[in-house]
Amino acid sequence: MRLYPIQCKVNGEKVQAEFPAHVTLLDALRELGFLEVKNGCEKGDCGSCTVIMDGRTVNACRVLAVQAEGREITTVRGLGTEDDLHPLQRNFVEKGAVQCGFCTPGMLLSAKALLDENPHPGREEINEGISGNLCRCTGYTRIAEAIEATAKEME
Ligand code: FES
Ligand code: FES
Repeated sequence: MRLYPIQCKVNGEKVQAEFPAHVTLLDALRELGFLEVKNGCEKGDCGSCTVIMDGRTVNACRVLAVQAEGREITTVRGLGTEDDLHPLQRNFVEKGAVQCGFCTPGMLLSAKALLDENPHPGREEINEGISGNLCRCTGYTRIAEAIEATAKEME
């Protein structure tokens, strides 16, 4: 099977790899060890595979790995570290917005992209911003509160 070379940046680090044309960015990232990018549905429905590509969120299951050529990708690992959490990560923990945690990486990246574009979102804009990310645990209220608290903090 023909392999296509891909060069991109993931969380600021240069990544070089080769994948067949049909492989999704989700599968490629997970194969390269970025297991924080979660596979929930592979159909673009759940948002658990959300990454930021050149400043915009995408469902990695709906993007081919070859489309990542020359792009900058951020996974949740690129937001903060265990010792130096991004304010969104800290507020998610403090507000109880993380339960099973499966949706959390994608949810955090959608929240990050939202605040980058709109630093003072109202509740409706927050709900819209995370509308592509399904959470079966939290009821979304605590997630929205965590995003609101982060926006206030970052004023
Ligand atoms: S795994 Fe990509 S949207 Fe569900
Ligand atoms: S915390 Fe479990 S799916 Fe969101």
